Amino acid sequence: MPAPPDSAAIPTRSTGDSARLCVILGAVTMAPMRLLVTGGAGFIGSNFVRQALDALDCQVDVLDALTYAGDRSSLAEVEHRINFVHGSVTDAAIVDELVRQADTVVHFAAESHNDNSVVDPSPFVQTNLIGTFNILESVRRHDKRLHHISTDEVFGDLELDEERRFTEESAFDPSSPYSSTKAGSDLMVRGWIRSFGVRATISHCSNNYGPFHHIEKFIPRQITNVIDGVRPKVYGSGQNVRDWIHVHDHNTAVNAILERGRIGQTYLIGAECELNNIVVVQEILRLMGRPDDWFDMVGDRPGHDLRYAIDSSKLQAELGWKPQYLNFRDGLAQTIEWYQQNESWWRPKKEATEAKYREMGR
Ligand code: NAD
Ligand code: DAU
Repeated sequence: MPAPPDSAAIPTRSTGDSARLCVILGAVTMAPMRLLVTGGAGFIGSNFVRQALDALDCQVDVLDALTYAGDRSSLAEVEHRINFVHGSVTDAAIVDELVRQADTVVHFAAESHNDNSVVDPSPFVQTNLIGTFNILESVRRHDKRLHHISTDEVFGDLELDEERRFTEESAFDPSSPYSSTKAGSDLMVRGWIRSFGVRATISHCSNNYGPFHHIEKFIPRQITNVIDGVRPKVYGSGQNVRDWIHVHDHNTAVNAILERGRIGQTYLIGAECELNNIVVVQEILRLMGRPDDWFDMVGDRPGHDLRYAIDSSKLQAELGWKPQYLNFRDGLAQTIEWYQQNESWWRPKKEATEAKYREMGR
């Protein structure tokens, strides 16, 4: 995996919430914090696990259902350092046992793809709502610290020309079964904080890119298409804007919140990189040696959000977080190189993914 541009800036081991005191034979020693990471075999969760093992003094349990989106080989580098549990957050008994043993829970597990949610919302309701309910009830029962991973999509979308960006005060206005079930899970976390004093924080991040990203998603779908000699597919007008952040930067922010975030607070995570989809595709084409216009416009996604934009000033001012991937082209070039060098990771997923898109007509 490519090294981050400035690895010295990764949060380091701290004695705050990242370790717990334990008394053995009268001597005070530090025991590593035990982290439960749900969805740790997914794109962002697996990056978090690798980063947490480097940056924190911790022991990691991963709970993952290994849906089509999960891949245990994404954790191969750290397999010997984690306890992997194959199970679902919808299984209250497994969740409760793992939460009981943990100090802190970082909840990434979700059905995460908008296109799938408009074909069949049912797994989104199960995992995103019922799964989060199970996590909340267990952290409440056992009084454990929770960080809940959410998305900027819960705020709906923005006009292309408006100055407003999403902030912690923005109202929820979700557009899809994916974003509405994420919004529902966030509202439950807020309710459990207020009514039961659950020790939780919430973060809403913008669009991530980087290695180990499932090839159903925009950037890796187009990179792997170009590798295969297939023209990229751009939905609708191609004017839709996403605010891109490297997955490494998302997780340094999550670590900052775990270490220094205020309980009960919400933090928005973004790296000020708004680009429309045509610009992104043309950047991929240039980096991969194809002409700028070598892509197809295809039908639009139902309910397609127009623009997302994050104001992360609270996170930066309060917790001193800063993104390290400041140049999108460099991060994208590293990502392209990763897909070129790791075909064995994505190739088995390609045919089924494209078959799904053919059925959607996109
Ligand atoms: P992903 O689809 O790559 O990974 C999801 C992981 O969750 C997979 O490993 C899958 O097997 C697992 N999972 C699914 N259902 C489960 C269940 N019932 N029980 C246990 N595990 C289950 O998703 P991702 O892109 O890594 O997103 C992770 C989290 O970050 C999600 O909560 C998502 O809403 C949020 N998020 C994603 C982005 C982004 O750009 N990808 C941006 C902001 C927030
Ligand atoms: O904003 C955060 C969200 O970003 C996360 O909560 C979601 O989990 C994550 O999937 C992502 O959602 P998007 O719907 O924005 O990402 P996706 O990669 O599916 O699409 C990005 C943009 O590209 C969007 O405008 C749709 C468009 N698109 C997508 C695909 C797959 C295309 O034009 N062509 C494509 O083939």
